[in-house]
Amino acid sequence: MTAIIDGKATAAAIKAEIAEKVAARKAAGLKVPHLAAILVGHDGGSETYVASKVKACEECGFKSSLIRFESTDEAPLDPAVLMAEIARLNADDDVDGFIVQLPLPRHIDEQAVIEAIDPAKDVDGFHPVNVGRQSVGLPCFHSATPAGIVELLRRYNISPAGRRVVIVGRSNIVGKPLAAMLMQKGEGADATVTVCHSHTPELARVTRQADILVAAMGRPGFITADMVSEGAVVIDVGTTRVPDATRKSGFRLRGDVDYENVAPKCAAITPVPGGVGPMTIVSLMLNTLQAAQNRD
Ligand code: GUN
Repeated sequence: MTAIIDGKATAAAIKAEIAEKVAARKAAGLKVPHLAAILVGHDGGSETYVASKVKACEECGFKSSLIRFESTDEAPLDPAVLMAEIARLNADDDVDGFIVQLPLPRHIDEQAVIEAIDPAKDVDGFHPVNVGRQSVGLPCFHSATPAGIVELLRRYNISPAGRRVVIVGRSNIVGKPLAAMLMQKGEGADATVTVCHSHTPELARVTRQADILVAAMGRPGFITADMVSEGAVVIDVGTTRVPDATRKSGFRLRGDVDYENVAPKCAAITPVPGGVGPMTIVSLMLNTLQAAQNRD
């Protein structure tokens, strides 16, 4: 029997735990955590993510602020305006943490934006200071998706220790930081990690060696049954919108794993939606709570 790893239910349980901690903060006369999010333009996926983050803030008892900037090809946002808003949030004593939703319009230098965020308020964990601290195992804000995956494995008693983890995808926000986290010494880590990408020869031969296979390259249905060994744990990070005329929205989310054919071979697998996605959002909430505690 394949176990379905329920990220939605796990995330709901963690949000309830966070809400309790926020209530205790209030009772102790401490401020409630405040997360701000900057959204530039109208990317469909980003709109959905940011709406979910605002909703999660409500569920956790946080204060949230959504700051929107218009940007179109005809009237692109002046990057200096975005930088000025980041400087304002860095200095705003009421804001514990903030994020700039990615991707940004192409004319804006994403790395420069990330580096403008005060690392102490960088609850996405994208600033090089947090990335560097994470890679040497120092306290930091861990990037949300990898932290969510590690927590999901922990809550399902799936220990990566001594296991072979294969990550397909080397992005700065998932593949690289997840590899760094899982290869650390200590509980919830101690894995032997391989990171594969578009230049990896004989990819299927490598993925078949995985005890835990993480698909994070943003190519719907890419991981097929022949790429997965019997009894593996499969974590699907993909969330691509694919057209679906039967839905009111006109699309559905599809993961990077050919779920229907892969699931029967697995010991455990995350669905899309309802797997890693909700855990990413909950990790952001945990980072924001931490940011508020750091500033008490
Ligand atoms: N775009 C996709 N995932 C993320 C995320 O975790 N944080 C931000 N800021 N943008 C994203």
